[in-house]
Amino acid sequence: MIDNNTKTPDLELVVIGQEELKRYLNLFAESIRSNIRFNLLIEGAPGTAKTLAVKNMVTKLQKELKSIPFVRVTGSHDAIPSDLIGDIDIKKYKEGISDIINGPLLKAHGNEYPGVIYVDEFNRFSEYTLITFTEIMAEWQVSFPKTPLTKPLKANIIATMNPYDISGITDVPQHILDRFNARIIVNYPAEEVEVEIAKQHINYYYKKAFQSLKPYYIPLISTTRILRKIGVALGPRAYLSTLDLLALEYLLKNTINNEIVIEHYKNSIRAKIANMSEDKQSELISTATITLTEEFKNAKRIK
Ligand SMILES: Nc1ncnc2c1ncn2[C@@H]1O[C@H](COP(=O)(O)OP(=O)(O)OP(=O)(O)O)[C@@H](O)[C@H]1O
Ligand SMILES: [Mg+2]
Repeated sequence: MIDNNTKTPDLELVVIGQEELKRYLNLFAESIRSNIRFNLLIEGAPGTAKTLAVKNMVTKLQKELKSIPFVRVTGSHDAIPSDLIGDIDIKKYKEGISDIINGPLLKAHGNEYPGVIYVDEFNRFSEYTLITFTEIMAEWQVSFPKTPLTKPLKANIIATMNPYDISGITDVPQHILDRFNARIIVNYPAEEVEVEIAKQHINYYYKKAFQSLKPYYIPLISTTRILRKIGVALGPRAYLSTLDLLALEYLLKNTINNEIVIEHYKNSIRAKIANMSEDKQSELISTATITLTEEFKNAKRIK
């Protein structure tokens, strides 16, 4: 999605709805202020504002407490612990000195307050690598495999997992999940919230195009909600990406019509269903076209 300098100054992209998520992130922020160990697992469909909510919380906390170290990592089944915490410095080791070249996670160590480690796609790490996080969660320290060395790492963890993720997924063992204080499930927003999400998106990025995009966001949201009901995992990005394309279309040609909206919606969702079989994709694309055409008619009738 577009994220450039076209955004409206002074406006902040806020999380609408998702009250439970915000409540637990407030508790997380309080754990940092109060120097308490607290780890949160957030699970939910793609594009449901998990990252936005965490980023907003951390930005506020950093302003309030001045310096809160923040490190973000993304799960990959190829990663090994040394990719995260670093490795022994071979040059120094040969000279008889045990020293470590720090990996990215060590930057999250906080002296005064715990730092924040945000782990996206937690379940993509292998079990071997996940143990690194367990040690941080339980003891605020890391151990370097095959050495007697440990280092303090005072940081609290927020991890996210996407239940629709099927490639490279690890079934995270229960003893690792046990370390989290809570597991929050983030659902798709209610219809009226989705309308606000779309409005905020257009106002934030493309204020000038608002009037031209206005007739389209309700049919796009309704269509997305209908497709979800038949089991397609489409988050708000399905219509927000389409609105990005339409805004660009408007900036380029100053005109938008139903055909163009259908074309961009089809291609937006194509990117989100690419892992399905060709047949299933064609079927969904034609369902999307029929539904969106119907929703245009409904919108006209309501007018
Ligand atoms: N409840 C919401 N309030 C405001 N904006 C939202 C909301 N839900 C989705 N959005 C919009 O959708 C975008 C995508 O959200 P974000 O990247 O935070 O999702 P995510 O849950 O982290 O997705 P993923 O699982 O794919 O990482 C946000 O930047 C925002 O523009
Ligand atoms: Mg995210």
